Amino acid sequence: MPFLKTISTIPGQPATNTYPYTIPFIGKGFQLDLHSDVTIFVGENGSGKSTLLEAIASKCEFHVAGGGRNQRYEHHQSESPFADSLRLSWFPKITEGFFLRAESFYNFATYVDHIASDDAIMLDAYGGKSLHHQSHGESFLSLFTNRFKKGLFILDEPEAALSPQRQLVFMRIMHQLTQSGRAQFIIATHSPMLLCYPGAEVISTDGDTLSVVDYRDTEHIRLARDFLAKPEQYFRQLFAEE
Ligand SMILES: Nc1ncnc2c1ncn2[C@@H]1O[C@H](COP(=O)(O)OP(=O)(O)OP(=O)(O)O)[C@@H](O)[C@H]1O
Ligand SMILES: [Mg+2]
Repeated sequence: MPFLKTISTIPGQPATNTYPYTIPFIGKGFQLDLHSDVTIFVGENGSGKSTLLEAIASKCEFHVAGGGRNQRYEHHQSESPFADSLRLSWFPKITEGFFLRAESFYNFATYVDHIASDDAIMLDAYGGKSLHHQSHGESFLSLFTNRFKKGLFILDEPEAALSPQRQLVFMRIMHQLTQSGRAQFIIATHSPMLLCYPGAEVISTDGDTLSVVDYRDTEHIRLARDFLAKPEQYFRQLFAEE
């Protein structure tokens, strides 16, 4: 069962026409009950997934650039403008966890190197080797294998660094962690593979309400399946319109 049970907007939030209230489901307000250890947000580019994940992470006091509670390092954006309008309901309340956004992973690796220069033991938690000296995918998996033990893991497009094979490995790690009853994942993804994760609750951010969807009905799965079955046909149409 998930520790974080409900994510909702506080009634009476500002009806402004500025970001992030311009995002339809945020402007309208929502209450989202979570029923699975793995929640996956899926939706078009710009539909508000990262904005929501950042606000949840900020509310958990995880640094919005990525990292756990004790990680602090420079990043252009230090807080989420939306966190104050958000309410999280927990049972039990947990404080451990991690927020990872693929785009700022480089900053995080630099931060780990900086700390490790004072504390060599710390690198053991990241595979015993600077994250900068591992490939993008290797360093992601190092983090998943060595650092992720328990807590709430908020991951924005974790697939960005991972080959299809490594996405399978990643899902096995998720499975092991959730089976132990010590971990909950909240993920935003465009990966058709991650969307298939068994038992995940898939929530669409398209439209003005957050809605639970069957992963098989998502555009991501439908298009990937159809495209791979007949890429030539797609390219013929795509290039014919030029
Ligand atoms: N700091 C900001 N100030 C103003 N608008 C923003 C800001 N960050 C994001 N937006 C806008 O808010 C909308 C949602 O952005 P967000 O990054 O949450 O989308 P997303 O669903 O994560 O997209 P993607 O799939 O491309 O990662 C977009 O239209 C974006 O341009
Ligand atoms: Mg995003």
